[in-house]
Amino acid sequence: MDPYLQTDRVTLRPFGADDADLLVELDSDPAVMRYLSGGEPTPPQVVHELVLPSLLTGYERWGGRFGVFAAYETATDAFLGWFLLRPERGGPLDEAELGYRLRQADWGRGYATEVSEALLRKAFTELDVRVVWGETMALNRPSQHVMEKVGMTVVRELETPEDMLAVEGAELGGYRYEITREQWEQRRVPQP
Ligand SMILES: CC(C)(COP(=O)(O)OP(=O)(O)OC[C@H]1O[C@@H](n2cnc3c(N)ncnc32)[C@H](O)[C@@H]1OP(=O)(O)O)[C@@H](O)C(=O)NCCC(=O)NCCS
Repeated sequence: MDPYLQTDRVTLRPFGADDADLLVELDSDPAVMRYLSGGEPTPPQVVHELVLPSLLTGYERWGGRFGVFAAYETATDAFLGWFLLRPERGGPLDEAELGYRLRQADWGRGYATEVSEALLRKAFTELDVRVVWGETMALNRPSQHVMEKVGMTVVRELETPEDMLAVEGAELGGYRYEITREQWEQRRVPQP
């Protein structure tokens, strides 16, 4: 199967029906889940019955153009985590969310920035996307840092959703980041 995306060090491929264990293990690390569930692992049953099936139907819905993609270190084929690029369900196809979740062992290696940069390029040059957005909790500086490094900026503050009120820093809310195609193209013009 052709990869969805390839960068210098990382290959993104669709998840397969047998990949539930990769997701269960990723979501079992409280550090990974800190700003998502307050550190609670995603129950394996939820991964098997809800999470993985919804990823698989997502590929069908968007004809493989968008979705949540498994990330592998190209040199070793080791699983790193996942990245997502997808419209909201039922939303316009020219607005795509960017997201990422990596194994703690692979933080601090620049993978999130490298792949996010490449996903923006794909969104704006191949997929006819007009705006890419991402949302993050106020305390999740690593995630904000990735979006800032690829040129996204805060467009508004967010209230924490009801189902995340137990997460550390929930009272601080979060931020929505965006970058438009025009802003992305502008970044690529060498400054005098
Ligand atoms: C969000 C997350 C993916 C960020 O991971 P990360 O490893 O901090 O981000 P990067 O991959 O861009 O790595 C950044 C650091 O790697 C280091 N690095 C090493 N080689 C690098 C390279 N070639 N390019 C860029 N950075 C590199 C740098 O120190 C860099 O930090 P700096 O820019 O401050 O110097 C990670 O924290 C995570 O998975 N968190 C749990 C899930 C989560 O919260 N997801 C987001 C929900 S909104």
